[in-house]
Amino acid sequence: MTAPAPGSAPMIEMKGITKTFPGVRALSDVSFDVRAGEVQALVGENGAGKSTLIKILSGVYRADSGAVLLNGEPVHFAHPVESLRAGIAVIYQEFSLLPERTVAQNLFLGREPRTRFGLIDGARMRRETREVLSLFAAAGRIDPDRIVGTLDVATQQVVEIAKAVSTGARVVVMDEPTAALNEAECEELFATVDTLRTRGVAIIYITHRMREIARLADRVTVLKDGEVAARFDEVPEPAEIVRAMVGRDIADFYAAPATAGEIGPPVLTVRGGGNAVLKGIDLEVKAGEIVGLAGIQGAGRVALAMALFGQAPFERGEVTLSGERVDFRSPRAAILGGVGLLPGDRKSEGLVLMQSVRDNGMLTSRAFAPLWASDRRNAHADTTGMDGLLDRMEIRAASYDQDIRALSGGNQQKAIVARWLSMRPKLLIFIEPTRGIDVNAKAGIYHLMRDLAREGAGILMISSDLPEVIGAADRVLVMQEGRIVAAFGRGASEQEIMHAATGGAEVAA
Ligand SMILES: Nc1ncnc2c1ncn2[C@@H]1O[C@H](COP(=O)(O)OP(=O)(O)OP(=O)(O)O)[C@@H](O)[C@H]1O
Ligand SMILES: [Mg+2]
Repeated sequence: MTAPAPGSAPMIEMKGITKTFPGVRALSDVSFDVRAGEVQALVGENGAGKSTLIKILSGVYRADSGAVLLNGEPVHFAHPVESLRAGIAVIYQEFSLLPERTVAQNLFLGREPRTRFGLIDGARMRRETREVLSLFAAAGRIDPDRIVGTLDVATQQVVEIAKAVSTGARVVVMDEPTAALNEAECEELFATVDTLRTRGVAIIYITHRMREIARLADRVTVLKDGEVAARFDEVPEPAEIVRAMVGRDIADFYAAPATAGEIGPPVLTVRGGGNAVLKGIDLEVKAGEIVGLAGIQGAGRVALAMALFGQAPFERGEVTLSGERVDFRSPRAAILGGVGLLPGDRKSEGLVLMQSVRDNGMLTSRAFAPLWASDRRNAHADTTGMDGLLDRMEIRAASYDQDIRALSGGNQQKAIVARWLSMRPKLLIFIEPTRGIDVNAKAGIYHLMRDLAREGAGILMISSDLPEVIGAADRVLVMQEGRIVAAFGRGASEQEIMHAATGGAEVAA
């Protein structure tokens, strides 16, 4: 494969695509194309129709009207298997790898090489797996015999992309591929995308992050309310993309930092906290304060969150919450004690997909209401209050009684945020709070966090999005190998934080 001359005919063309779900017009008359050897960014707010467009391309959904052309020929895919056979691979927001199988088994699933006796040729499978993986800088170290479920998310993603390439995909679609990756892993993914591009693959790249568009895209298509709002043949300034997405400029993306008068006494104090992963954790989060927690994957940030939340408790040290010694041995105990935790992963959060949007928002408060000793009335977040929160999150749904499964990914995430906000915990831990959330709603979450802090909560925010940590937090702590190794006030640079996160000198927290 070689990259074709610029300006060549589109490899994929979608013309006049319209798609209606009950009560929602997801797409109306959308036209879109992507050429070999280019990255076409597809952006838009949560619910704008991006994933739906991709699902029509791959044969998951059928368009009400419109046409899909592959190399100028009309195609009709009734099932994703058909589009995959035609060379279109989609890397979904949720992975499709089988976690209990090896890397090689996943790569060759359903098309295993056979010996002449008809047995699976394991040696050849491993060799070819190594060959495919060697295309990707990030994948050179992956053992073909490794069980996929034991790999970190970033590596699983490389395997998923390698799988697409090994099946001969000429079109690769990535739907928010960096949502679960940290900074360094994002760089690896970008290199992978560059490799695909130089190999002449046509790439459709869906993201909510402006920096990725600037880094990767050749062209940009903006969807808004199911229509094409703008098309850019060259990547414009982020502000211009945001304007096309949201329909206006966003002022005050981050909320104003806490003023000295807004910071109260410590809500959380940890002294000498430790367990199998964590070492000598000294930490304080004050009322009114948002503390950001940065670090690379495996630095112990999530372990710290899990210790505070009673999921993987501290084995050493002292923890006080609002001045009282606590020792949470279960999440339930932590929740009852006033600790909330918002994981970024929609699935692990146990989003109850069968429920309506409003019920999901109210789920936690209702489940714990009888036990939520300190403030029962608050815990019984009434429906009106919940609707208000859902409104503030600008959740895009036909109605709040709608089944949450039908919401776009980002809107599901917003419903979870609303759920926790209704509980008013003393300490609220956010893990990757804006993963998969559109630029406008991100601003909404930062402002909600600030409002919660102003109302007296202490907030600990774990995020791999460095601009977010810097912009939204009053202080930033950096973890490395289970320890807090550095502390920064406002105005720290990404370089300083990265330096500390990747092995800079030890600094007292
Ligand atoms: N299976 C479905 N049934 C009903 N409505 C649906 C279904 N799938 C999507 N929708 C609706 O279609 C619209 C577009 O959703 P889509 O998932 O394409 O958005 P998106 O742009 O991918 O958003 P996000 O950035 O949140 O992933 C939304 O209003 C969504 O609720
Ligand atoms: Mg989507």
